[in-house]
Amino acid sequence: MATKSGGRFTGQLGFVLAAAGSAVGLGNIWRFPYLAAKDGGGLFLVIYLFLLVTFGFTMLAAELSIGRKTRQSPVKAYAIVRPGWGFLGVLTFLVPAIIMTYYSVIGGWILKYITVYLSGAGQAAADSKFFGAFITADSAPLIFNLIFLGLTALIVYKGVEKGIEKSSVFIMPVLLLVVVGISLFSLTLSHTDAGGVTRTGLQGLKVYLIPNLQGLTFSSFLQILLDAMMQLFFSMSIAMGIMITYGSYVRGQVNMNHSIAQIGLFDTGVSVLAGLMIIPAIFVYAGMEGMASGPGLMFVSLPKVFNAMGSIGVFIGLIFFLMAAFAALTSCVSVLETLTATCMEILGSSRKKTTLILTALYAVASTVICMGYNRFYVELPLPNGSKAQLLDLMDYISTGVLMPLVALLSAVLIGWLVKPRWVIEEMERNGERFGQKKIFAFMIRYLCPPIMVVLFVKATGLL
Ligand code: PHE
Repeated sequence: MATKSGGRFTGQLGFVLAAAGSAVGLGNIWRFPYLAAKDGGGLFLVIYLFLLVTFGFTMLAAELSIGRKTRQSPVKAYAIVRPGWGFLGVLTFLVPAIIMTYYSVIGGWILKYITVYLSGAGQAAADSKFFGAFITADSAPLIFNLIFLGLTALIVYKGVEKGIEKSSVFIMPVLLLVVVGISLFSLTLSHTDAGGVTRTGLQGLKVYLIPNLQGLTFSSFLQILLDAMMQLFFSMSIAMGIMITYGSYVRGQVNMNHSIAQIGLFDTGVSVLAGLMIIPAIFVYAGMEGMASGPGLMFVSLPKVFNAMGSIGVFIGLIFFLMAAFAALTSCVSVLETLTATCMEILGSSRKKTTLILTALYAVASTVICMGYNRFYVELPLPNGSKAQLLDLMDYISTGVLMPLVALLSAVLIGWLVKPRWVIEEMERNGERFGQKKIFAFMIRYLCPPIMVVLFVKATGLL
């Protein structure tokens, strides 16, 4: 069966880098380091790695196999996996459809910071009020959002091989190099504060890597487990339909076992390095109290750190935001590609026309989300007690509520209705040995469903 979107990755490398491009995103940069710092340093890392090779590989194998075996994007794929389950495809489709309304907004913020560092105004960005003033402004955030959306659309417009694969093969190695470079630099830092206390990057490294078991209780351990689980499947772009779509572009002869290991390694490697880059730097200049997560970390705390570094901080700030833009761009591309491929399949329309129409629709939708900090400002209470603006609300619905639900249903479908063999056959298509067969079958049947129920219940605030 040919994919209707007509594309194929040329081989394993292009596929792995494109999938890693989707996986490596803002989650690696602004959430993983925060969780590691909060959840006992090395303890979090060990738990995360364990979950990666069990749970993470299981879900990734399932989704990529569904894609390659059916050669369809999510809406049609699930209906082929089991008649009557098309509804799961529709539910899955909603996740990227909602994420797309706000991801380019954040991409736009990153572009703005690139221009700030390029023009040598990094000092201004270190002011606590700078970020708030920028996102609530009338026109600048809207314009940067549209530029980021335009860049994303351009890559998708060019297609799987000439757009997505080509850009990933260039971007991902550069990104890795920059992350390694800044991490090494971070370790060399040293700073004496006004009170005469000197802190060094190497001390920060210890805070990060040495497991901190102080005050650990059963319930705090469970919390760490849930944090790691949620982070893992957000980071691996699981339950968004993305890996099904990318799986449908993989050639039959590609070894899926190896690819999955490489994608997991790349994604986790960048997360661990992001921690290495950020935790020592924050520790040296702000102490661990300065450790925030999300936009606060990236757009408020880090610019202060770059400013404290003196003149080299302008350069480090610039390459940091360039790297973040690359990470966000390849993720955003995977979201728009999933939407484009699905619409092409359902409507029978051409890639170019579909991309243009979707881009126009999202130009409007993301502009509305952008204005959620200005004209459409709201404070909606979420079940977890926080107050959400439009962007947070979209994030909550897509990644907090829908993702665990989609992952739960797909684990039940594969584990109990079509049976794990369905995936295992695809993993061993060319006579490869799917080494983790037993773990896979056990995880997808017995562990994934209850874990997803817990994550779902937790997100909805019932727990
Ligand atoms: N894996 C991405 C990350 O870590 C998550 C993501 C992918 C979000 C695609 C949006 C779109 O940030």
